[in-house]
Amino acid sequence: MDRRMRVAEALLLVIIFINCRVSAFVAGADGPVTFQEALENGNTTFFCDATPDTSDDELMLLVWYKDNESIYSYDARVRTEWSNIAFNMSGRLIADTGKNPTSLTISALREDDEALYHCRVEFLLSPTRNTGVNLTVTVLPSEPFFLDELGNTVTNKTRPYYEGDTLVLSCLVIGGRPPPKISWYSGETLVDATYSVSDIPNVWQNELYLPLTRDNAETLSCRASNTRLVPALEASLEIELYLPANQVKIQWVQGTSDGVLRSGETVTAQCEAYGSHPPPDIIWRLENKRLTKHSNQTWDISLQAAVSFIQITPTIADNQATLTCEAVNPIMPSSERNSKAAVMNLNVTFGPKVEIIKLDDEKRNEVVELDPLHLKCDVKANPPADKYMWYFNGMEIKPGGMWGDNISSNELFIEEVSKRHAGQYACAARNTIGETRADSISIIVLYPPECKKPSITLNKETLNCNVKGLPVPDTYFWHIQQIEHDSQHLTTGSSSLSLDHVAGPLSEYLNVSCEAENGIASQYKSCTKTIGLGHLRPPQPHQCDLAFEYKEFQIRCIPVENATHYELSLWRLSKTNASLLLDRKKSIDVGNSLALTQNGDEPWLVRGGLGLLNTGDEAGAAACNRYGCSAALLLRPTENLLSAAVPPWWKFLTERDTGISIGVVLLVIMFACSTILAIRLARRSQTKPQVPVIQVLQLDDVTRDYLNRTGDIHVHPSCSLRSNSSDCTDEQDNPSLVECHCAHTSHEWVPPPDVTLTLQRESAV
Ligand SMILES: *[C@@H]1O[C@H](CO)[C@@H](O)[C@H](O)[C@H]1NC(C)=O
Ligand SMILES: *[C@@H]1O[C@H](CO)[C@@H](O)[C@H](O)[C@H]1NC(C)=O
Ligand SMILES: *[C@@H]1O[C@H](CO)[C@@H](O)[C@H](O)[C@H]1NC(C)=O
Ligand SMILES: *[C@@H]1O[C@H](CO)[C@@H](O)[C@H](O)[C@H]1NC(C)=O
Ligand SMILES: *[C@@H]1O[C@H](CO)[C@@H](O)[C@H](O)[C@H]1NC(C)=O
Ligand SMILES: *[C@@H]1O[C@H](CO)[C@@H](O)[C@H](O)[C@H]1NC(C)=O
Ligand SMILES: *[C@@H]1O[C@H](CO)[C@@H](O)[C@H](O)[C@H]1NC(C)=O
Ligand SMILES: *[C@@H]1O[C@H](CO)[C@@H](O)[C@H](O)[C@H]1NC(C)=O
Ligand SMILES: *[C@@H]1O[C@H](CO)[C@@H](O)[C@H](O)[C@H]1NC(C)=O
Ligand SMILES: *[C@@H]1O[C@H](CO)[C@@H](O)[C@H](O)[C@H]1NC(C)=O
Ligand SMILES: *[C@@H]1O[C@H](CO)[C@@H](O)[C@H](O)[C@H]1NC(C)=O
Repeated sequence: MDRRMRVAEALLLVIIFINCRVSAFVAGADGPVTFQEALENGNTTFFCDATPDTSDDELMLLVWYKDNESIYSYDARVRTEWSNIAFNMSGRLIADTGKNPTSLTISALREDDEALYHCRVEFLLSPTRNTGVNLTVTVLPSEPFFLDELGNTVTNKTRPYYEGDTLVLSCLVIGGRPPPKISWYSGETLVDATYSVSDIPNVWQNELYLPLTRDNAETLSCRASNTRLVPALEASLEIELYLPANQVKIQWVQGTSDGVLRSGETVTAQCEAYGSHPPPDIIWRLENKRLTKHSNQTWDISLQAAVSFIQITPTIADNQATLTCEAVNPIMPSSERNSKAAVMNLNVTFGPKVEIIKLDDEKRNEVVELDPLHLKCDVKANPPADKYMWYFNGMEIKPGGMWGDNISSNELFIEEVSKRHAGQYACAARNTIGETRADSISIIVLYPPECKKPSITLNKETLNCNVKGLPVPDTYFWHIQQIEHDSQHLTTGSSSLSLDHVAGPLSEYLNVSCEAENGIASQYKSCTKTIGLGHLRPPQPHQCDLAFEYKEFQIRCIPVENATHYELSLWRLSKTNASLLLDRKKSIDVGNSLALTQNGDEPWLVRGGLGLLNTGDEAGAAACNRYGCSAALLLRPTENLLSAAVPPWWKFLTERDTGISIGVVLLVIMFACSTILAIRLARRSQTKPQVPVIQVLQLDDVTRDYLNRTGDIHVHPSCSLRSNSSDCTDEQDNPSLVECHCAHTSHEWVPPPDVTLTLQRESAV
């Protein structure tokens, strides 16, 4: 056995020797050549087909050569392997002949392993088979690294640049075989592949000149590659590029629907600012006014944006205001280029704000009659008001009538204002938010003075011009016409005119006209009226009597109110016929009628001398003032009074000093006579007068009773004496035919025997 082994080894050496001699391999001529690449320090596997062409053939020997030097052999006959010890240092050769094809793996490859390898297979029958492998061992370069233009290394991040700056940067690698390609990439985009050998041996570089933009300044990378077996070696750099925000978004995020705001309701807006480096400062503005109460700004990583929120509560004034969100780069020098803004207009909706405005006139609330009235409903509303309503004195104005048909708009136009249009006006407007009614304004219609009814009145002694007008008239023009008198023109500042200011007798009636002025226009038609003044005359005196005093007849009257003087008349009975003729007339001034009660209970009397009266004569007294005289009260002296006026036959006695005794006797006789007379009078009347004068008291009652009782009266008295009694009715003008129907007949009054009433007579007869 030992022997056989030794033989076999000897044989193998022979074969190897033979092999070595014939190891020269000519590529292409001796067999095919494949190319194979492997990395330094890596491994590679060569394959060699060792199956015989025919089944009766058999493998004898398999040998691998590096160039012309054998590095491995396998003797199939004795199944022994051999390896070149110099090549199989550290056991880096591994062969596998069991498989088909057979393989030979070399690991821990070195640069000098690069060579042309070939495999020679010997068969028992078949010819020798050669297969070549051209192995390239690639040496990877170092990791790329960066140098700036000053030769400083740059790691991870460049120095800051502004957009538009040109980046100058070199990417370098050391070593590598074959020489590596060096390329610059921005992201995945190749930006520069112009590599070259550097000044330093065994160093390759690629110098980049890159104008920086927002798009190419993403991560910048340098790739170095000299084989396809492994990915390129890559080093990347972040470019510190200061960029303004390039996109700013503003939007409502809370409190609105469709961006419609309500005044007074709080809403939240969000602002997102993209593209700024470093993160921007977000500034909020509302219509150029900076808002500070916004949220803290945050950086949203998923959005890569700065985010800020703001809450605002818009008012009506903010409608259509602009909400601005501006992103300002805090590092870039301030200029237009360092910021970007987004704007949003606020659509603040609100119910109408309504106010009435009077157009076309400087006077705010006044309009002159017949002028136009133009009111405008001034409405601020969002959305705009779509309906207007007008109100007059609280009632909605309906078209038609005094309003015309054109009232549904925001303007109310009345072409010719009348007094009916004075009042409170309001308008209301409606939009989708609500309805609002304005504060009403009061419209005053001014108009020139016009007469009221009655147009002129007399109150006591004052004339009143009854006109209405707005403003209240301040000047009144009076025209007063009296019979047989020039017309008078007076001006007053008020509507009343005292008759004191009217000159003239004022005895009958006045034709008065008045006209007022209030600055608007002159009165269209003056007021006129005929004013009777008869009622201003004093009442008829009705407490008068006749007396014989101071050697003449006197008519004495208790003064009546408002009389300034009295007219006394004396009527004489004609000697030839029965008519009375006016003999004398005189006026007595009584001065002030306030002196009515001068001496306490004693009435103050108006008295006038009449001279001597005869039987049938009459005296009359009428009370007068500037408006004329009352009817006269006529009195006729009785026989007793007349006889009392005759001087007594014994008068001469009194003229002498014939002694008091006669006087005493006469007094006794007179006492007796007067006693008798008193007894006679007492029989006829309870109210006998004390003195022989006519007493006329309560003349109307006297008259009536007297008429009823006596048949021998001379004249019927007139009931018109009862100027104040409504119980009597004047049927005719003739006072002598008056019939009186008086209600009060209970008072039984027997007239004194001395009284004779006469026909009432007008003094003017
Ligand atoms: C050869 O290299 C490959 C990867 O390149 C590895 O998986 C393998 O184990 C290596 N073989 C040897 C024998 O070293
Ligand atoms: C292999 O060939 C080279 C030239 O090709 C020669 O110089 C060298 O001596 C040879 N080596 C052997 C072992 O034959
Ligand atoms: C290479 O050497 C190692 C140990 O030195 C050995 O185990 C191996 O078999 C050798 N390779 C071949 C192909 O002979
Ligand atoms: C092996 O390949 C290299 C590169 O491809 C080439 O330069 C060389 O001439 C080749 N060698 C042979 C023997 O073909
Ligand atoms: C560069 O980046 C790496 C990994 O991100 C880090 O470990 C290293 O410290 C950085 N170098 C510098 C100078 O910042
Ligand atoms: C903003 O930040 C300050 C302090 O950084 C903090 O006190 C405050 O509560 C924050 N405000 C909001 C709205 O987050
Ligand atoms: C505001 O919002 C209202 C209600 O949606 C709408 O009618 C109106 O047209 C808007 N105005 C503007 C200016 O957008
Ligand atoms: C209604 O009044 C308005 C404003 O006064 C005016 O412009 C318009 O012509 C009037 N329309 C009619 C039908 O009178
Ligand atoms: C007063 O007016 C009436 C009617 O208007 C007229 O008949 C009369 O003559 C006038 N009198 C005077 C005094 O003018
Ligand atoms: C007197 O005149 C005044 C003022 O005019 C009046 O009020 C009064 O009634 C008159 N008196 C009589 C009795 O007529
Ligand atoms: C009565 O007499 C007077 C003269 O005494 C005379 O004037 C008058 O006309 C007479 N009247 C009658 C009606 O005869």
